[in-house]
Amino acid sequence: MNIVIIGQGAIGLLWYYTLNQQPENNVTLQCSIHVKNLPDKMSFTDIAQKKHQQNIHLANNDDFQQADLVIYCLKAYAIDKANSQYHSITNPQAIIIYAHNGLLDLNKLSEQAHNIQPKIAMLMTHGSLKTNDFEIKHTGEGHCDIGLLHGDISQTHKGKLIKVLNTALPKVTWQNNIKEKQWLKLAINCVINPLTAIHNCENGSIASEQFQQDIETILQELVVIAAKNDLNLSIECLTKDVLKVAENTARNCSSMRSDVLAKRKTEIDHINGFIHQQGIKHHIATPCNTELWQQIKKLETDYSS
Ligand code: PAF
Repeated sequence: MNIVIIGQGAIGLLWYYTLNQQPENNVTLQCSIHVKNLPDKMSFTDIAQKKHQQNIHLANNDDFQQADLVIYCLKAYAIDKANSQYHSITNPQAIIIYAHNGLLDLNKLSEQAHNIQPKIAMLMTHGSLKTNDFEIKHTGEGHCDIGLLHGDISQTHKGKLIKVLNTALPKVTWQNNIKEKQWLKLAINCVINPLTAIHNCENGSIASEQFQQDIETILQELVVIAAKNDLNLSIECLTKDVLKVAENTARNCSSMRSDVLAKRKTEIDHINGFIHQQGIKHHIATPCNTELWQQIKKLETDYSS
């Protein structure tokens, strides 16, 4: 399969390395920013702490034109711009996958899409840590859910796609209702990401008594907004899921906390900010999510000014 990976972050490099291990794949990397002193190889430390190296082949226009699969491993806020940048040079038959936290405005994606081009969402729970530029560590085995957001995909293409991804990074599961899975992931991110970033704590701390009222309010607001999007979510199940992820990733630094500590832009607009925007759209107050969104925006403004 001809594959282009967009983004040289922890997730982009994880797919770049693992997909490269199948000799029948031709995998190239599109860096999201201009990289000075690009090394020849990337380094990958597997779960058993063994270090491996992989040549870096950068993508060119021909690679996009011949791609069977393009995986956008970017932050949610970078997807729109990247779509406009690469859409016109990408093979119209290529399968497009988006791997990011938070939710995007689906209408925008469909406007840019070739009519029936399959656009797929990918939700991952693998732990991948970027230890340096072009250096990653696979810190936790997880799983991956994928499902169709827009367009159409034949059974043959779907079967081939799952086989290639599953061989690279098991286990990958096709979800017929990816929208519901996206909202479950959104709920986890709406709780863990801003609270760990604001209180500068590891994910495991979220289980402590001090956060239980906030968790309940964040999730109650999310459930009301989800209902406006034709999704019936249960607050009890969501609370259990959030606490389970906090326990399973107890020693991890959430992506938003990492962004704040490194003074980078966060994905807050697509997480609690998404709930806030949906609240405005449907005339529903979401005070807790709105406040968390504002608090993180203030942190971002403070360190970027
Ligand atoms: O964004 C993150 O860090 C992750 O999605 C999660 C699940 C909150 C675990 O750290």
